[in-house]
Amino acid sequence: MSQQRESFSSRIGFILAAAGSAVGLGNLWRFPYLAAQKGGGVFLLTYLIFGLSFGLSLLITEVAIGRRTRQSSVGAYRMMNPKFSFLGVLTAFVPAIILPYYCAIGGWVTKYGVEFFLGNGKKIAENSEDYFNTFITIEGGSLLQNAEFWFLIFLGITAVIVIFGVEKGIEKASMILMPALLILSIGIAIYTFTIPGVAKGLKYYLLPDFSFIKSFKDFADLLLAAIGQLFYSLSLAMAIMITYGSYMKQEDDLQKSSIQIVLLDTCVAFLAGLMIVPPVVAYSGGDPGLIQSTAGPGLMFVTLPKVFAGMPAGGIIGALFFVLVFFAALTSSISLMEAVVSVIMDLTKMARKKATVIVIGISLVLGTLSCLGYGPLAGVQLLGRAFLDFFDFITNSVMMPIIAIFTCILVGHVVKTDYIEEEVLKSGEFKAKKAYDIMIKWIAIPLLAVILLTNLFA
Ligand code: TRP
Repeated sequence: MSQQRESFSSRIGFILAAAGSAVGLGNLWRFPYLAAQKGGGVFLLTYLIFGLSFGLSLLITEVAIGRRTRQSSVGAYRMMNPKFSFLGVLTAFVPAIILPYYCAIGGWVTKYGVEFFLGNGKKIAENSEDYFNTFITIEGGSLLQNAEFWFLIFLGITAVIVIFGVEKGIEKASMILMPALLILSIGIAIYTFTIPGVAKGLKYYLLPDFSFIKSFKDFADLLLAAIGQLFYSLSLAMAIMITYGSYMKQEDDLQKSSIQIVLLDTCVAFLAGLMIVPPVVAYSGGDPGLIQSTAGPGLMFVTLPKVFAGMPAGGIIGALFFVLVFFAALTSSISLMEAVVSVIMDLTKMARKKATVIVIGISLVLGTLSCLGYGPLAGVQLLGRAFLDFFDFITNSVMMPIIAIFTCILVGHVVKTDYIEEEVLKSGEFKAKKAYDIMIKWIAIPLLAVILLTNLFA
C-alpha cells in the first residue's frame, strides 16, 4: 500500500478510542449478571486471572496484527496467510450478530433513563421484578411499556449518527461522560455498603467459594462464561481491535497501551459488579442458590432501581446514572455498526450508504427477534434459549472461542509469535514475552478447545 494510513494523533488517542469501544454494556450490564449467576467470587477470580493473562495476550496480538499489516481484519488475515482469509470474514459476522441485541439492551437502558427522568424511579422500585417482566414480555400495552419501541429508538439514534457521520461529536462528549460515569459508579458502590445485609453480598462477590464447582462440567461452564465475557468486554475476536491497531502509530508503546486498556476495562466491570451483586444478595435474604438461579439479563434493571430508591436523591442519581450508561452503550453501538459497515465495504466494494442501509436492515430483523423472544415469541427456542440469549451465546461462547483458537494457531504455529513480538518491540519493551509465547502456542489452544467441546457436547 503506497497510501499513508491515517493514525491516531497520540497514544492517549488510541487508548481512549480502544477503551471507548471496550467499555460499554459488557461491563455494566453483562458482567454483573454473570458474576451473580456463576458463583460471585469464583467468577470474579476466574475473570481476573484470565483477563490479565489470556485476555491481555490476545489484545496484544490483535493490536499488533493491525499495526503490522496496516489493514482491517479481512485484509490482515489474508496478508498474514491466504489460507486464513476465512478468519477475517468470520470475525466480521460477530459484530453483525451482536449489534442487534446490543441495541435491544440499549433500548432497555433508554427506557429506564426516561422513566427516572419522569420521576417514576420510586414506582419502579416498588416491584421492580414485575415491572421489568411486564416490560420485556411486552404485556403492558402502552408504547412506553413496549421493549420493541425502545429498541427501535436506540437503533434509530445509532443509525442516524452513523449515516450522518457525526460520531466525532459523540466521542468528544463521551470523553467527559465516561469519567463522570466512573466517578458516579464509585459513589453508588460506596453507598451500597450501607444497605442492611450487604455484608453477605460482599462476601459472595469478593470471596471465592469453590464449592460452587461440583463437576468438571461446572468448571468448564465457569471458564467458558469468564472467557466469553472477556472477549465481549474487550471487543476481541471480532475485527475491532485489529482495526484500531491499524491506526496506531509505530512509536506508541503497544504493550503498555494494551495493559492500560485491560486494567481500565476490568476496573469498570469490577465496580459495576460491586454496585449490583452485593445488593442483590442483600435484597434476596442472602441465599446464593436463589441468586444463581434467578440472576439473568434483567439483573441490572431489577436491582438498581431498588438501590436508588433507598438512596438520598436516588431519583436524580438514578436518572443521571442511566443517562451515562446510555452514552456508554451508544458509543459502543456506533462502533459496532461502523465495524460491520466497513467490513461489508471491504468485502463487496459497496458504497458506504448502501452498506449502512443493509446493516440497519439486518439489525431490524435480528433485534426485533431479540425483543419479541421474551414476549410473543417466547415459545420459540434455539438451543433451549430465547433469541437474545441465543445470539449472545452463539457469539460469545461459540464463535469467539473458535476465532481465538484459529488466531492462536495462525500466530503461534504458522507465522510464529516473532511476527507479533517484533511489532511490540518496535515501540517499547515486551516484558512478558516468554509468558506470551507459551500462552499463545501451548496453553490457549488446548484450553479453549476443551472448554468449548465440553460445553457444546457434554
Ligand atoms: N466491548 C463492548 C462492551 O463491553 C461491547 C462490544 C463488543 C463492542 N464488540 C464491540 C463495542 C465492538 C464496540 C465495538 O460493551
